[in-house]
Amino acid sequence: MFSLNALPDGFHTDPYPTYAALREDTPVCWQPDGSVVLSRYDDLDLVYRNTERFISDKKAVFGPKYGIDSPLYEHHTTSLVFNDPPLHIRVRKVMVGAMNPRALAQMEPGLIELVDGLLDEMQAKRSVELIEDFAGAIPIEIIGNLLGIPRSERGPLRDWSLAILGALEPQLTPEQEEWGNRSVYDFKDYLRHVIEDRRANPGDPATDVLTRLMQDDTDGGLTEVELYQNCIFILNAGHETTTNLIGNALELLERHRDKRAELLANPDLINTAVDEFLRLESPNQFGNRLTTEDVMFHGQTIPAGTDIHLCIGAANRDPRQFAQPDEVVLDRRPNKHHAFAGGPHTCVGLTLARMEGRVAVGRFLARFPTYRITDGAERGGRIRFRGFARLPAQV
Ligand code: HEM
Repeated sequence: MFSLNALPDGFHTDPYPTYAALREDTPVCWQPDGSVVLSRYDDLDLVYRNTERFISDKKAVFGPKYGIDSPLYEHHTTSLVFNDPPLHIRVRKVMVGAMNPRALAQMEPGLIELVDGLLDEMQAKRSVELIEDFAGAIPIEIIGNLLGIPRSERGPLRDWSLAILGALEPQLTPEQEEWGNRSVYDFKDYLRHVIEDRRANPGDPATDVLTRLMQDDTDGGLTEVELYQNCIFILNAGHETTTNLIGNALELLERHRDKRAELLANPDLINTAVDEFLRLESPNQFGNRLTTEDVMFHGQTIPAGTDIHLCIGAANRDPRQFAQPDEVVLDRRPNKHHAFAGGPHTCVGLTLARMEGRVAVGRFLARFPTYRITDGAERGGRIRFRGFARLPAQV
């Protein structure tokens, strides 16, 4: 029986046989702590859409997990993703507004320049590490620009993000918890001067997320804590996930050289290809919701107040939804995967993430069509987030 706290050997390398068994044999999989894993596409779809019966608020779960006085509790219970209306709607509206098509179109030339610069550096080195030298170096700049974080101050952001999102794992060591708490504390401390500076010198509210968040005066606007914690969230949300999209795609195209050749011969497939990478190797493998009333799935009653784990990685390969679910189909259409979740909490950054994936993977392939991943690849070792910590390659 699948347990999030006792994963089978080899799970991190290849979780998909485990997910297939879970989805086919135990679509309602009870965990020792009373929570439940759902893994079928239609079940996730239903949960994502029904925000009355399945809420995002995590206070009941994170209180016992982190302690209600901890920085991690404050952060994860204040960010929009783990909230319901009214806070969710208020913060989301501001973020969506800042990521409008015009703002994204303005970002693309800078993104191309950044990617080409990284490709030049890798070309000079030949022996590279694809996460540090490429996949991890792109989102940090893009998201840093989005919030107007000075370039020279972006160094610690990646580690803070890894520590804070890493604390969402089902099981934490005391060291991981301590690292997560310290990172929220340090991140807030750092943001103080950024926010003070922006108050004194507001940016263009059409494109600057931070200025928009500060200027939001709906219902009295955001409190200080809400402002800080949602800045931290957006910096984190766009970071590790997008790094993993790019890293996972390059690794997938190494394992499937025929697909690499197909993409090289048909570069116009890059848009549908990015969604296929997102479906097959979803950067975010699990989401969570809490039931507000008794609900029935596959003949079983899940009581009100149950923490539900939504296994995106399994749902995205559900044969009931996707033909040839384990195959890489570069021109798959439709491809309504749940890599960006669904319903009112659908990822705010999905267009930006797709743009980063398209530019990064497309230009990398065009420059290094015969790249080879070499020995020493290391997985991130997370359950929620799927990606690599190290991916050495020859380009
Ligand atoms: C490949 C990259 C990405 C993936 C796979 C991803 C995935 C997700 C998922 C699954 C959720 C929903 C979580 C839930 O409700 O259970 C989400 C929410 C969110 N994402 Fe992303 N994300 C990515 C990139 C980004 C980027 C680049 C940004 C911002 C610049 C971003 C900002 C957000 C925000 C603000 C939310 C909260 C939305 C809400 O609660 O209404 N994400 N993301």
